[in-house]
Amino acid sequence: SSILTLEQDLTDKNILITAGPTIENIDPVRYITNRSSGKMGYSIARKAIERGANVTLISGKTSLDIPNGVSEFIQVESAKQMYEAVVDNLDKNDIIIKSAAVADYKPKNISDIKIKKSDDDLIIELDRNKDILKEIGKIKKDKILVGFAAETNDLIQNAKKKIEKKNLDFIVANDLTQEGAGFGVDTNIVKIIDKNGNIQEYPKMKKYELSNVILDRVKMLSK
Ligand code: CTP
Ligand code: CA
Repeated sequence: SSILTLEQDLTDKNILITAGPTIENIDPVRYITNRSSGKMGYSIARKAIERGANVTLISGKTSLDIPNGVSEFIQVESAKQMYEAVVDNLDKNDIIIKSAAVADYKPKNISDIKIKKSDDDLIIELDRNKDILKEIGKIKKDKILVGFAAETNDLIQNAKKKIEKKNLDFIVANDLTQEGAGFGVDTNIVKIIDKNGNIQEYPKMKKYELSNVILDRVKMLSK
């Protein structure tokens, strides 16, 4: 497959990729976030560019370099900003790959000034963020929608629920309990489940190899 990937086989494809964590401010110095290095999403972006696709990368804060040749790079912080960037860039993309780790909740109030600690415990009330993928799933028409799921338990069952709830074409499901899967590392161990319930298990792979597997699938689905 390393030879195949040199081929520019995605030249007519417009792909929107989200990557990295969102951050939700508590006050000017504190925030809550999700574990995510952004490596998976950036790797998919790089491979898609190599294979000739037009790539829009919408990214939370990461320490990674912007991939060379990206058509558009949009830096965001919060889930709300990511949602707005995705919606703004939806029309021109036919493939949406959502590898970002989006915060499910945000502080109800963001303090303009630094919250001083007191002797008491601090309780932060959280509001639900919008589920970006679910919103896109409602209006996707013939766009191809790919989600990710990182689970600690009941991997298949949880992933299947997410396919249905978010109207996905397929989901890349990550078992966080396996060594060499998930956050920060350069490898992943996944199962890909499609909307018909077909499950394909993959061995431990480098994230760039998995990127090609995901892009091959996307290519098969798109006309
Ligand atoms: N996702 C999203 N918007 C959110 C939360 C998640 O678009 N507000 C997307 C993620 O980018 C990922 C997929 O939905 O592709 C699954 O995310 P995950 O956190 O595993 O699922 P949730 O539906 O948030 O469920 P939970 O966290 O309870 O497992
Ligand atoms: Ca979540």
